[in-house]
Amino acid sequence: MKHRKMGDRWTVNNPGGRYRVIVTKELPGERWLQILIAAHCKVDVCSSTAILGAGEIESAIGKRCDGVIGQLTEDWNGTLFRSLKSAGCKVYSNYAVGFNNVDVGAATKYGIPVGNTPGVLTQTTAEMAVALTLAAARRVVEADAFMRAGKYEGWLPKLFLGKLLSRKILGVIGTGRIGTAYAKIMVEAFKMSLIYYDIQKNRELENYITMYGEFLRTQGEEQVTCQFANSIEEVLSRADVVSLHPVLNKTTHHLINSARLGLMKKEAILINASRGPVIDETALVHHCKNNPEFRVGLDVYEDEPEMKRGLKGLRNAVIVPHIASATSWTREGMAVLAASNIAAILRGFPVWHDPQNISTFLGADPPRAAPSIVNARELKIPIYNP
Ligand code: DGY
Repeated sequence: MKHRKMGDRWTVNNPGGRYRVIVTKELPGERWLQILIAAHCKVDVCSSTAILGAGEIESAIGKRCDGVIGQLTEDWNGTLFRSLKSAGCKVYSNYAVGFNNVDVGAATKYGIPVGNTPGVLTQTTAEMAVALTLAAARRVVEADAFMRAGKYEGWLPKLFLGKLLSRKILGVIGTGRIGTAYAKIMVEAFKMSLIYYDIQKNRELENYITMYGEFLRTQGEEQVTCQFANSIEEVLSRADVVSLHPVLNKTTHHLINSARLGLMKKEAILINASRGPVIDETALVHHCKNNPEFRVGLDVYEDEPEMKRGLKGLRNAVIVPHIASATSWTREGMAVLAASNIAAILRGFPVWHDPQNISTFLGADPPRAAPSIVNARELKIPIYNP
């Protein structure tokens, strides 16, 4: 594998490759690059950590670009897909499971398949939502800062009183894969009863919790329960902890606004590891200021990487920089899936039949298919069904 520099910020791998693929950020692991090189790709990787603007992306696309691995921080709009089409692009993959930054309609119009990276983020992201819940409930960040500032002068009965999670009511809004994984961890770990809202019932989750409740009963313990709420309002007003897991679209933009925050318990905990604009962040800052016992744990922000004024000064907020999927296993897995999407389409392979079940792509003998192409049906790409 040969490396040479293309400008200051781009590294070229396998310069003799037949296809030109651009990758707008360095990705973890080695295997993703091997997959692309094995598919005869010349791979141009941007080494800058700064978010690329449209102009920089346009120049990276240039006159010839067969494939792209792009980031959720970039706006892959109709203009860029038109440029990709002109440059002969055959496939785009987001390095993310979410693709709200991609105009899939425009990509489809130009005949460009759009890949994403489902499956490998589920548990990792759910675990971060759990971490935020615990940090918010038990004031871990505040207490850590207190210790580092040398303020600890001895054990005190009222030092850093937090909130007990055990046997409280857990609210989950959006029970897709991540919401479901989070709910299961929280219910099992803290024996919380679940109230959830989604556009449809999640029978699998309901059965799981019912069975777990049954198990607890056989152990002589109080059962846990699972209830499907008729409205978001019902979840907000009843739960002690609410975690948000919807996809971001027009219907979920500012799903949590001032009026809905006002329905929550004064001592509730709100967690968001989905997408920032799901919460009206200005309203949240206001609510946290007026309700010091309210707690929030955030992985995502409305105007990332910015935060709304006042947020970083809140003692009752735990804030981390969109790292819910940041484990080596997940981020390397995402890179493998994104590269596999590109390599498979360039090689004319079909699309894997079950994008939720893609672990086989991480093994030594991956299928000859693209793991996940979100517009496969619209583009009539054949499905691989083993
Ligand atoms: C995604 O993949 O959509 C996540 O937000 C990345 O952490």
